[in-house]
Amino acid sequence: MEQNITPEIGASDMTEAARAAQPEGKKVFVKTYGCQMNVYDSQRMSDALAADGYQPTDKIEDADLVLLNTCHIREKAAEKVYSELGRIRQLKEERGRDGRETVVGVTGCVAQAEGREILRRAPVVDLVIGPQTYHRLPNVVQRARGGEKIVETEYAIEDKFEHLPAPRRSAVRSRGVTAFLTVQEGCDKFCTFCVVPYTRGSEVSRPVAQIVAEAERLAEAGVREVTLLGQNVNAWHGEGADGREWGLGELLFRLAEIPGLDRLRYTTSHPRDMDDALIAAHRDLANLMPYLHLPVQSGSDRILKAMNRKHTGDDYRRLIERIREARPDIAMSGDFIVGFPGETDADFADTMQLVRDVGYAQAFSFKYSPRPGTPGADLGSQVPENVKDERLQALQALLVEQQRAFAASLIGQTMDVLLEKPGRQPGQRVGRSPWLQPVIVDENAGEIGDIIRVRITEAGTNSLFSEPVS
Ligand code: SAH
Ligand code: SF4
Ligand code: F3S
Repeated sequence: MEQNITPEIGASDMTEAARAAQPEGKKVFVKTYGCQMNVYDSQRMSDALAADGYQPTDKIEDADLVLLNTCHIREKAAEKVYSELGRIRQLKEERGRDGRETVVGVTGCVAQAEGREILRRAPVVDLVIGPQTYHRLPNVVQRARGGEKIVETEYAIEDKFEHLPAPRRSAVRSRGVTAFLTVQEGCDKFCTFCVVPYTRGSEVSRPVAQIVAEAERLAEAGVREVTLLGQNVNAWHGEGADGREWGLGELLFRLAEIPGLDRLRYTTSHPRDMDDALIAAHRDLANLMPYLHLPVQSGSDRILKAMNRKHTGDDYRRLIERIREARPDIAMSGDFIVGFPGETDADFADTMQLVRDVGYAQAFSFKYSPRPGTPGADLGSQVPENVKDERLQALQALLVEQQRAFAASLIGQTMDVLLEKPGRQPGQRVGRSPWLQPVIVDENAGEIGDIIRVRITEAGTNSLFSEPVS
């Protein structure tokens, strides 16, 4: 169930405006793997390259520049990149025979983790650039076009966001009425299974003024829902407008004042950083959506300790109780890993029990994948693959059952839905419920960007069906 890992978003950034503005320009194809932060980064890279004359394309064979924005979180994610590079090698050769140059770049977390090794394994690659240095991309691409092979993976001292151009208005419009906004990057938590602290570096928070300016820009371009992003988004902190130290809760109160931003979300949070102000934001802010992705990974205290999560299963249960007291209609989402080294049947039973106790509206679950350089990979007691498979199946069956039960509980209820895009069937639009579910709506019910009131008539596993309520 790897839905949070967006598999391929080739050319998510093509805009009519960009195409019209530079009819003769060079073309860039961006393929995005991994989490929402990569989606955001891909957009910002496209924005930076557009300023340099590169227009986005969704046809890889037309691209003068191909960028793979990669993910290193599990082995499978990283290996996908190399098979894609195999296909790109052929493409580059074909284009070369027609006298067309193709620059190939690897960005993102595989770039950061493997650096120069990528050039060795895949000589088709011209440039490797890590997430901290994207502001240097236009310059790096220019050098690569001159024939240089470039690896830029050091952690930059300068602030990449300050140097990247602001999201382009036309691009924002073409991307729709919802948007991501990265407020925090990196992680200092060092969970023993996880590569993120190594690929994204230590925790850095963007300053309040930068975040507010970008949110206002998004709202002016017609965005109605913003999801704040960070590997540890609730570790965000900064000096507030009042001169006091703010956390994510205070930041949300500030963003809630921006006219037109009717819906706010944030992801991904760590249980240890859910402070009182953030819980108060869930209690007091109508435009903070009642949905919280709060990964716990395991229900076994022994395994949580081995994972270096620094909290117990009961700490997590108590935290959710407090959040639900503040916001009774909040729906919980989570991430789980099965088969962490040393996980016994009893440990796994604790995870199943925690899932039953909490009750999730939706959740992601993964088989543990040993990652080079992380402490977990060196532990002796690796769990056999078939055991991981069995546990994953059992866990996913329970999670799907809970997801269905949650969706079914909404039948007959009325709710506000943000209309996001045309539906797959003619005559339909797809909206989003406060709990992040797609809701199918009759197209006469409103325009894209409208928030309309509907009654839920039917619930599928992945979407809800509705009728408008006047
Ligand atoms: N920062 C977020 C999650 C980042 S990665 C957090 O702390 O929750 C997203 C999810 O991938 C994690 O929550 C975890 O469930 C999963 N994951 C990370 N490393 C993994 C590994 N080595 N094997 C399997 N799943 C992993
Ligand atoms: Fe990875 Fe843990 Fe940091 Fe999340 S908190 S990014 S799981 S090290
Ligand atoms: Fe993957 Fe990097 Fe995101 S490893 S999940 S793309 S932070």
